[in-house]
This record gives sequence, structure tokens and C-alpha cells, in this order.
Amino acid sequence: MKHKTAFITGAAKGIGRATAVALSASGCHVILTDIDQNALDQTKTEIEKSGGKATTYLLDVSNQEQVNTVHQQALKEHQRIDYFVNNAGIGGTLAPIHLMTADNWNNVINVDLNSIFYCLQAQINILLPQGGGNIVNVASLAGKKGVMAGSHYSAAKHGVIGITKSAAIEYGAHNIRVNAICPSFLETDIIQAVPKQILDFVKEHRVPLKRHGKAEEAGETIKWLLSDQSSFVNGHALVMDGGMNAG
Ligand code: NAI
Repeated sequence: MKHKTAFITGAAKGIGRATAVALSASGCHVILTDIDQNALDQTKTEIEKSGGKATTYLLDVSNQEQVNTVHQQALKEHQRIDYFVNNAGIGGTLAPIHLMTADNWNNVINVDLNSIFYCLQAQINILLPQGGGNIVNVASLAGKKGVMAGSHYSAAKHGVIGITKSAAIEYGAHNIRVNAICPSFLETDIIQAVPKQILDFVKEHRVPLKRHGKAEEAGETIKWLLSDQSSFVNGHALVMDGGMNAG
């Protein structure tokens, strides 16, 4: 992956940050985008301290105009972008369907699903004339199952898997691979909204490995999907859940 360039959304913290660190360690120049400038700067500093190269852009993925502008800006400054990781996302406020407000529903659909359409469109338009590249979308195990009080999140993540598969079949012939990852709980900020009893129950009684995952483990999985080591993997939604759904 030496001398490749990778564009990551939601790169300031959690899985996005861990992915940037992993890709940088493999020689990629990383383009870090997020809505949190302070955290972006911290991630950039950390990567540069380890000898890596990073550029940052403020980007709200739910704003289509910003998505297009920042992709064009990044392309202009880097000439070529080989990898894209569409990771930015939110959990939304937990509520059963009969109490869910439309604002809460729309916010999650905008940030977690519409953003993937906006980003993919901008990215495919970069990759087609370039002759190819790889994309990974961060979905969730919630994209394969229903979520109690999280119908907005589950619907959005099911949608992410759907658009991933559609993109894979639309652009495979153009040397563009598109895959997704579907993690169960990983220890990042996003799970702070989940009640501790649920997190503990899942860890003790549902995950055979008896722990939650780490952002770094997702980063390594994403790196593998972007790399040539997974060159025949396309349109896949890779579950990483410590074996929770194996039985
Ligand atoms: P996190 O909360 O640690 O990081 C999310 C990052 O996205 C933050 O840096 C935040 O500033 C950024 N972000 C939020 N809204 C944004 C927007 N509108 N535009 C651009 N950036 C935005 O959470 P985590 O866990 O790293 O989440 C990353 C992705 O992983 C999300 O798509 C999430 O749904 C998914 N995921 C997380 C799991 C977990 O248990 N941590 C499990 C399954 C999927």
C-alpha cells in the first residue's frame, strides 16, 4: 500500500481514526475528514509523529454539497485517491418506533445512509476516470438484524449493505471493488448511549470471545478489504462479531 492515498470519513475518532493509523502504518497518505476539527488535528499529529503523512478536511457527510466540494478539493491536492472508507456515523437517540420522532429518524438516515449515497457518487466519479480503486463502507451487525429501539439505525445500516452490493455489481467491470464491514459492539464513543446492562449481557452471554471488539480490529479488517490481499472479494458485507452469530 506504499504511496497509495486513502480518504476516510469520520476519521477523527473511533474506527475511522484506527483505520487511518493502520493505513498510515502501511505507507498510505491518509486524508482525514470529520466534523470535529480538534479531534482531527489530534489524529493528524499522532500519525505524523509516527512518520506518516496526513491531510485534514472538515466534512459533514450528510451535506451533499460539502461532500462533492471536499472530494474535488482532495483530488486536486493529491492528484489520485486509491481508497475510500465511508465510516462516519451516529447511533441516534434510542426509541421504540411508536415514540420515535421524525427528526430523530431523519437525522440517522441522513448521516448513516444518505451520506453513503453522496460519498459513493463523488468517489465513483473519481475512480472511473482513474481506472479503478477500492471502497469500504462501515455498516453494522444492525444491517443484518433488527435493533430494539434502534429501527432508524438498523434501517440505515441495512441500506448501507444494499447500496454496497449494488455498487459492487455496477462498477466491478471498472476495476472498482466495494465492500462493507458489519461489526458488533466495538469499544468506541458511539456505544456510550447503549445501557451498560445490555453491553455486559451481550459480552457475557452472546459473544463467544467474551469481549467487545476494538476499533483497531475494525481498522485492520478495513485495511485488508482495501488491499490487494482481498482482490477477489467484492460486494461482501463482512461480519466481525467475535462469533456472536455463528450459532
Ligand atoms: P465514534 O463516535 O467513535 O466515531 C464517529 C466519528 O464520526 C466521530 O469522529 C464523529 O465526529 C464523526 N461524525 C459524526 N457525524 C458525522 C458527520 N455528519 N459527518 C462527518 N463525521 C461525522 O464511533 P465509531 O464506533 O468509530 O463509529 C464509526 C462507524 O462505525 C459508524 O458508522 C458506526 O455506525 C459504525 N459502527 C460502530 C460500532 C460500534 O460498536 N462502535 C458497531 C457497528 C458499526
